[in-house]
Amino acid sequence: MDNQITSDIFHHEQFKRSNKYDPMWILNNSMGPHPLWQTEYLLQAFDLQLGMRVLDLACGKGITSVFLAKEFGVHVYAVDLWDAPDEKWENVKTYGVDNLVTPIQADAKSLPFASGFFDAIICVNSFMYFGQDEGYLENILKFLKPGGQIGFIQTSYTKDITDGIPNYIQNFLGDELWTWQALPWWKALWEKDNLVFIDAADVLPNGCALWLRYARAEVEFGPPSPFPDETNIFKYDIKNGEYMGFIRLVATKK
Ligand SMILES: C[S@@+](CC[C@H](N)C(=O)[O-])C[C@H]1O[C@@H](n2cnc3c(N)ncnc32)[C@H](O)[C@@H]1O
Repeated sequence: MDNQITSDIFHHEQFKRSNKYDPMWILNNSMGPHPLWQTEYLLQAFDLQLGMRVLDLACGKGITSVFLAKEFGVHVYAVDLWDAPDEKWENVKTYGVDNLVTPIQADAKSLPFASGFFDAIICVNSFMYFGQDEGYLENILKFLKPGGQIGFIQTSYTKDITDGIPNYIQNFLGDELWTWQALPWWKALWEKDNLVFIDAADVLPNGCALWLRYARAEVEFGPPSPFPDETNIFKYDIKNGEYMGFIRLVATKK
């Protein structure tokens, strides 16, 4: 592998913190499009302070947990259901943050923590798998201190679609179609029970172009994938209204 080529495949002015991390490490440990770009944007709406306790919910292989610990000096509980703690622990040790990150295998729907334990809760590209359940927000908020922040970022529609989901998106999502809801749907869900103040509810600018860039790098440099090259779908979407991207929702517990 040519290090000169790979060292800047993800370099982006907008993501100064993410630029510091090895692109091959990102490619080999991501379970979706560039989790560090997503996390960096998500955290711009958070007020994280040194030493805080942060839950990184459904963190996959833990690269976002490493990022949280290294960039903000917070104590991270790196929770995931399908992905066992071993690989996360290797990542944590490689980046020298084993004093700050604790990997745990647990279900987001039955977490093993004390009430009010966390100062902040983040979730990158995963909240759609469990957060759509009625009552889930109230359930997860139990673990957050009053005044603490909770937020997610994830792939989704960048706008409300009122006249039917385009075929190319339906085909792209397949069995995962149920996981995508537009931002207004999520915002209404979070506002419904009056448990939080909304801090941010928006879309990552140029999200589909960023996704395309990540997908291109994945095809060129990533580990062998059973999935087809999807870069044409992102190119098509950008030309036809840019419905695909990343939504961010962040709120403070009342
Ligand atoms: C698309 S992956 C994203 C992982 C990681 N955040 C990233 O961006 O690389 C979705 C993750 O959600 C986790 N997940 C799904 N349902 C979960 C649940 N009920 N509790 C905890 N984790 C869950 C899976 O184990 C998986 O690692």
